[in-house]
Amino acid sequence: MEKGNDGSGAPPTGSFLRNDPSYSTRAIRAGFEPEAFSSLPIVPPITLATAFKQQSADQRGKFFYGRLDNPSRSSVQDAVAALEDAKHGVAFGSGTAAFAGVLQLLQAGDHIIACEDLYAGNWTYLHSLGRRQGIDVEFVDTRDVNQIAKSLKKSTRMVFLETPTNPTLKVMDLQEISALIQQHNLKIDENTEETQPQNSEKELVGCISSLSICGTNSNDSPQTLSNKETHNILTGISSDGSPRTVLESQSENILTRTNSDGGKSRADLEETKQILTETYSDGAQPTSLLSKSILDKYPQKIPADFPHTALNKENRRISNNSPCTDLGDKTERIPDGLPTTALSEETKGIQEGFPRTALDKKTKRVLIVVDNTFLSPYFQRPLNFGVDLVMHSCSKYLNGSSDVIMGMVCTNCDVLSEKLKFVQCSAGAIPSPFDCYMLHRSLRTLPLRMERHMATGLVVARYLEGHPCVRKVNHPGLPSHPQHQLSLEQTYGHSGMVSFYLKEDDLEKTKKFIQSFKLILLSSSLGGVESLAEIPLLMTRVSIPPEMNAKVGVTAGLVRLSVGLEDAPDIITDLEQALEAAFLS
Ligand SMILES: Cc1ncc(COP(=O)(O)O)c(C=O)c1O
Repeated sequence: MEKGNDGSGAPPTGSFLRNDPSYSTRAIRAGFEPEAFSSLPIVPPITLATAFKQQSADQRGKFFYGRLDNPSRSSVQDAVAALEDAKHGVAFGSGTAAFAGVLQLLQAGDHIIACEDLYAGNWTYLHSLGRRQGIDVEFVDTRDVNQIAKSLKKSTRMVFLETPTNPTLKVMDLQEISALIQQHNLKIDENTEETQPQNSEKELVGCISSLSICGTNSNDSPQTLSNKETHNILTGISSDGSPRTVLESQSENILTRTNSDGGKSRADLEETKQILTETYSDGAQPTSLLSKSILDKYPQKIPADFPHTALNKENRRISNNSPCTDLGDKTERIPDGLPTTALSEETKGIQEGFPRTALDKKTKRVLIVVDNTFLSPYFQRPLNFGVDLVMHSCSKYLNGSSDVIMGMVCTNCDVLSEKLKFVQCSAGAIPSPFDCYMLHRSLRTLPLRMERHMATGLVVARYLEGHPCVRKVNHPGLPSHPQHQLSLEQTYGHSGMVSFYLKEDDLEKTKKFIQSFKLILLSSSLGGVESLAEIPLLMTRVSIPPEMNAKVGVTAGLVRLSVGLEDAPDIITDLEQALEAAFLS
């Protein structure tokens, strides 16, 4: 990527990466075309409808129930994805819900490496709900790639980064971390090929297809799941790639519904999907797919020549017990060595084209996730460095007006996007159409706002750095920042986030300082048009153990400032008088 001044009229930043000269156009037009509505509105309307009329009972349009999708949400998802250089965006009701959604990609026993000065809410979530979910959490200083390398273990499935971090503005080397994880994933692939005979995946996929079809074929009609549906189930199923058991009772449920009255009772398609999906994504142990009791129950009904080549012995029994008359037909289409029987082209695509997904044989791979809240996609686009998922608290810079709580996850991977959409709809942690509208409106001014945040933030940071009452300033755009050079190489600039240490680590003086502001508001949020200040130790990080705060540099003298869009001289005047009040009066 080329470096240099971005020609936007903002003060020269030296040598941050040069941004896309059409980024503002993208921000204004992405995700919406007036032609999508008969009235041709020039901005996306707010669609409040909770449900949408269907043309017929078995045919539904793109939108049919508001929790599942909605025009306002759909267009803002596309817009944020476009700004992140991503194919997909998945919106959530808050940044925290987006984080929780990402964690749903993991399951009990999975190990996550997270940067140690993660946003306090996410840190606390991992410690409480994450651990309760069975996730093995390890916090390391992810600035040092060797520490990540040392922490990688067999069960590691995710590296979660924030760059720059909140509130100490440490910067992670995305390229270096990506290279490490890529190497690690390559080794996993080799080992997977050695230890897992090709057949095991074939069997897994075959079994699942069979079960899915069994579940839906109740009254002698050969009703199969569509490709898309099968694909959805599979993506829910194989999140760690190991063949897992269908819990005994759940398996019986599936079959009982199918067979309870002599094969005539119907397992509803939705129910079957639900059961299967839940079953396989719940962290059950990797043992046989089928329980002994089921085999015992349906022992003798399979002809030896049952044509399920991709199924193992156990599963033939089950499959044959249900009237899947067209299954053989599908089975014949299995190409040798490709475990995509009865599955769609989409699934083949996943297996061949998306190496970091949880579905193909490389399923033990590690995903890299970046919280990009502090910079917004205008200044940093981590997917271009090999990151798998980017998440945002849209409540901050993306909306930028301190009047929306919302979250978003972006990815280029179809499978991860499908999984996240499943979480979005199933958990129901969705944003309101009004918030989607508000965010979409704000995206249009993102480049302008971010340029101004950067310009004023730098002026303020330089002022603070030269002040005798300030010991140290954290701002990646300052040459004094330990990773200044790295920031220039992986970002297009820096936002209005500055943190700094007052000359004394004295909580009373720090309180006096920030309570003396006349313009800057004392508040724990950030990224809005108004300048906000907080004491992390007392406010946003009060739930973090003191030793962890001390380790990452959160001390009594640390102040975090979110520089807004007011005039720089006014902000500086306010800082000056507050410093005087705290230290010189
Ligand atoms: C870096 C970062 N990530 C995530 C969040 C959580 O976002 P939300 O408040 O929208 O849930 C925050 C909130 O402050 C944050 O600062």
